[in-house]
Amino acid sequence: MVSFKELGLSNTKEMFRKALEGHYAVPGYNFNNMEQLQAIITACVETKSPVILQVSEGARKYANQTLLRYMAQGAVAFAKELGYAIPITLHLDHGANFAICKSCVDFGFSSVMYDGSALPYEENIKISKQVVEYAHANDVSVECELGVLKGKEDDISHDVAHYTRPEEVQDFVSKTRCDSLAISIGTSHGAYKFKLKTGQSATLRLDILEEVKKRLPNFPIVLHGSSSVPQDLVAIVNKYGGKMEDTAGVPEDQLRKAAALNVTKINIDTDGRIAMTAAVRKTLAEHPEWFDPRQYLGPARQSLIDLYKRKNKEVLGSAGHA
Ligand code: G3H
Ligand code: 13P
Ligand code: ZN
Repeated sequence: MVSFKELGLSNTKEMFRKALEGHYAVPGYNFNNMEQLQAIITACVETKSPVILQVSEGARKYANQTLLRYMAQGAVAFAKELGYAIPITLHLDHGANFAICKSCVDFGFSSVMYDGSALPYEENIKISKQVVEYAHANDVSVECELGVLKGKEDDISHDVAHYTRPEEVQDFVSKTRCDSLAISIGTSHGAYKFKLKTGQSATLRLDILEEVKKRLPNFPIVLHGSSSVPQDLVAIVNKYGGKMEDTAGVPEDQLRKAAALNVTKINIDTDGRIAMTAAVRKTLAEHPEWFDPRQYLGPARQSLIDLYKRKNKEVLGSAGHA
């Protein structure tokens, strides 16, 4: 058993209190490898933004939970070395059951998500509550979810979205005592979020968010599936041999509006994947003679830094708040 406090990590309590007060959202960025982690920390230190490092089930399978935890611990020292000790949360993304959440709490994560969104309401409450009780005994924050997002997360995929029912949120939060609530208002995971006709752009159900805010004033709300799928980056992927067709993301102005309301955490993973892939494809196409991974992962990492700095400054508004 190791407490996140010994590792220099922070839970989300203070982070979300300040975000609600300042009307911005803290980034939830996923990482699976060293270059992604270096990019997230560099971008957040350079913009003086707090950050939530997210570890998914897929990341745990790909990179090993132990290794990822030590990397996050290293990130705390790395940020200091870069010259600014930003608050860093290590968060389990989409925890599937109590056992996974418990193992992360015991291993030094400072925040966990229990995702019971696909379960019947009462079942979701029951397990969420169990996770909250265990996590809170260790001062670890808990994010829960009500409503189902369209798209794919880990091995589960949902074809239709079920928007969060505002009339349920108060009851859910008071019964579970969770610290933040992920809701479904039209965002979805992955690079193919909407089927749009030319010239159309997607809109979020900000009316649902407003309704939630009325019922839960000053309570931290989370948006998953918030990549915007930048079309300039998709164009680079396709120009250099990729095949990503009919992609669509959440317009950034919609996210800015959500961040100015009660959304205190916005999850972005897909945009980073596209930025890295675009840079790797371009670099290798332009330098077919290169074979040292540093030659193509270096530009990929830089592209990720540029993307996350821009997100913090222009979309989430978290820049300057660390
Ligand atoms: O919510 C999904 C995140 O983008 C993580 O994706 O399960 O493929 O690592 P992953
Ligand atoms: P995107 O797929 O839109 O980046 O969402 C990531 C996410 O919600 C991680 O939990
Ligand atoms: Zn998610």
